Amino acid sequence: MAGSGSLCHLRRFLILISFLAGFVSLPSEAAVKQYQFDIQVKNVSRLCHAKPVVTVNGMYPGPTIYAREGDRVLINVTNHAQYNMSIHWHGLKQYRNGWADGPAYITQCPIQTGNSYAYDFNVTGQRGTLWWHAHISWLRATVYGAIVIMPKEGTPFPFPQPHMEANILLGEWWNTDVETLVKQGNVLGLPPNMSDAHTINGKPGPLFPCSEKHTYALEVEQGKTYLLRIINAALNDELFFAIAGHSMTVVEIDAVYVKPLTTQAILIAPGQTTNVLVRADQAPGRYFMATRTFMDVPIPVDNKTATAIFQYKGVPNTVIPTLPQLPAPNDTVFALNYNKKLRSLNIPQFPADVPLKVDRKLFYIIGLGANPCPTCLNGTRLTASLNNISFVMPQIALLQAHYFDITGVFRTDFPDKPPTPFNYTGAPLTANLRTAQGTRVSKIAFNSTVELVLQDTNLLTVESHPFHLHGYNFFVVGTGIGNFDPAKDPAKYNLVDPPERNTVGVPTGGWTAIRFRADNPGVWFMHCHLELHTGWGLKTAFVVEDGPGPEYSVLPPPEDLPPC
Ligand SMILES: *[C@@H]1O[C@H](CO)[C@@H](O)[C@H](O)[C@H]1NC(C)=O
Ligand SMILES: *[C@@H]1O[C@H](CO)[C@@H](O)[C@H](O)[C@H]1NC(C)=O
Ligand SMILES: *[C@@H]1O[C@H](CO)[C@@H](O)[C@H](O)[C@H]1NC(C)=O
Ligand SMILES: *[C@@H]1O[C@H](CO)[C@@H](O)[C@H](O)[C@H]1NC(C)=O
Ligand SMILES: *[C@@H]1O[C@H](CO)[C@@H](O)[C@H](O)[C@H]1NC(C)=O
Ligand SMILES: *[C@@H]1O[C@H](CO)[C@@H](O)[C@H](O)[C@H]1NC(C)=O
Ligand SMILES: *[C@@H]1O[C@H](CO)[C@@H](O)[C@H](O)[C@H]1NC(C)=O
Ligand SMILES: *[C@@H]1O[C@H](CO)[C@@H](O)[C@H](O)[C@H]1NC(C)=O
Ligand SMILES: *[C@@H]1O[C@H](CO)[C@@H](O)[C@H](O)[C@H]1NC(C)=O
Ligand SMILES: *[C@@H]1O[C@H](CO)[C@@H](O)[C@H](O)[C@H]1NC(C)=O
Ligand SMILES: *[C@@H]1O[C@H](CO)[C@@H](O)[C@H](O)[C@H]1NC(C)=O
Repeated sequence: MAGSGSLCHLRRFLILISFLAGFVSLPSEAAVKQYQFDIQVKNVSRLCHAKPVVTVNGMYPGPTIYAREGDRVLINVTNHAQYNMSIHWHGLKQYRNGWADGPAYITQCPIQTGNSYAYDFNVTGQRGTLWWHAHISWLRATVYGAIVIMPKEGTPFPFPQPHMEANILLGEWWNTDVETLVKQGNVLGLPPNMSDAHTINGKPGPLFPCSEKHTYALEVEQGKTYLLRIINAALNDELFFAIAGHSMTVVEIDAVYVKPLTTQAILIAPGQTTNVLVRADQAPGRYFMATRTFMDVPIPVDNKTATAIFQYKGVPNTVIPTLPQLPAPNDTVFALNYNKKLRSLNIPQFPADVPLKVDRKLFYIIGLGANPCPTCLNGTRLTASLNNISFVMPQIALLQAHYFDITGVFRTDFPDKPPTPFNYTGAPLTANLRTAQGTRVSKIAFNSTVELVLQDTNLLTVESHPFHLHGYNFFVVGTGIGNFDPAKDPAKYNLVDPPERNTVGVPTGGWTAIRFRADNPGVWFMHCHLELHTGWGLKTAFVVEDGPGPEYSVLPPPEDLPPC
């Protein structure tokens, strides 16, 4: 918070000076923001356990990327660790520039030990909070950080200017080595052990042992308003977040402004970001900020509460903070209502350009399953699929194969509909849980409009799944419980001010409809942002064809693109 807050103050100070001195223009800011990311292993201690973790520049969580809308950002990633690495700039659209998107084996091969790759991209038409994270195996458990994009110079926020701002990164901590856990899970064919704690800015807070030193505190002044940039960087848990005694006003989600929504708690899925305004309007004291999992089916999860402190200036640390009332872990009603209330701001300056006509309709069902595995503990390996296909990772990046016309890497016959329709959310289905395997993707015509309905199913179990699409924002035009009804449900769509985002939850036993215009050529990953399910194959990609002429086509790859 010191960083961004003082930056804000400095800027305001400069504006004041320029005004007083009668300067016509402000000191111009660098249009290129450069960062060096050294991937290093460092010992980190939490919950009375020390272990080596993969970090960026020795920091956990990693450094914040600051940029302004319109900037070019150059991040040189040098890998000093023993693991393959790649980094995704989650939510950045990367127009024609999938080479800088980051998912391993989708848009690039990994940066191998001892090598470097400079991610080079422009921040165009976006402002707000996004984040970055490792996009290979489960390394994002510790390799993640915030991206803060300030609006263009002279463009204020479309809400009251906060006194200061702070990043709040929610995460998960394991006492054991995460890569070892994943390997063990794969050998057994079962989910790896759940996390040992949730964290706020890398710290679990005082409800955990040995956490006195590992508690994040945000100092506030009474009467002032703060902008919290909240990011869910957890691997597998949708989270509630609340501050004791204080309401929050949501003003932005996934770097898109929304109509102000005042609430006691927010729900945030892995991959999502939420900006809230909080006014320090209570009696000076110490108040807990707290986060805990939302899970509305009987699947075991890490249900422990991480806390941090919203601390009024001058109040001694001996004051015991109060806990906020978080929604119950299984509060489906809160979750559905909260999401229903989110609406795009949709003002002339920031319009919601919802596609009204649809060129291509896609209907993908989400399934969990089990495939035979003689060496696994139960003789089966848990798996996950879209339209009954568990995605198999290729050995050459899909974007490379697409750009250079390398055949045999992927097929473009991903079905637009489930192969065998059934009652998706009827009686639980526990027999014939097999899935088909393949590296299959959908080809999408340039600039066509796409509607995708994601339907949860009762295969093995219903469950809520946060889906993330790379290279695009989309509009969440509709959602519901039960089976999507193509005859009735579209009439209920919100085509005026639906939330625009890059990650959306498909509710437990329900469906979500999204729309986007495929105007960004390239290969774009789409996957469940629960790392457990991504690893089980709950993913695919869209190959969006080039448009007319070179200015609507994928850019040539950079020279330092990591080879396979
Ligand atoms: C981490 O700590 C362990 C045991 O305390 C030690 O053996 C190891 O050298 C340390 N590793 C690093 C990278 O500091
Ligand atoms: C990235 O860093 C490495 C290691 O310091 C250096 O060799 C390389 O030239 C840098 N690349 C760029 C584009 O700055
Ligand atoms: C970024 O913008 C500059 C200036 O318009 C352009 O020359 C460059 O090609 C762009 N880079 C990418 C990766 O799109
Ligand atoms: C997972 O948890 C079980 C039970 O607590 C433990 O025996 C096992 O060692 C753990 N696995 C790893 C890789 O830490
Ligand atoms: C939290 O999870 C543990 C392990 O799955 C379970 O035993 C416990 O009952 C759960 N607690 C609550 C309050 O749900
Ligand atoms: C939520 O969990 C509580 C405590 O385990 C339980 O009593 C209640 O019935 C559950 N509510 C729903 C709607 O499942
Ligand atoms: C193995 O499969 C059985 C039957 O589906 C299930 O009841 C059991 O929980 C599984 N074992 C483990 C360790 O998951
Ligand atoms: C699907 O299953 C549900 C629950 O069993 C049932 O209420 C519904 O009528 C079924 N729908 C169809 C089309 O069979
Ligand atoms: C999925 O594919 C597998 C393998 O081809 C098949 O056995 C299974 O019946 C299919 N399941 C569904 C729900 O279509
Ligand atoms: C994409 O389609 C929109 C709507 O028809 C149109 O305004 C725009 O010019 C098209 N873009 C390109 C590059 O063809
Ligand atoms: C690292 O990436 C390279 C290139 O894709 C691959 O050949 C190698 O097997 C990977 N190493 C590990 C440990 O996964």
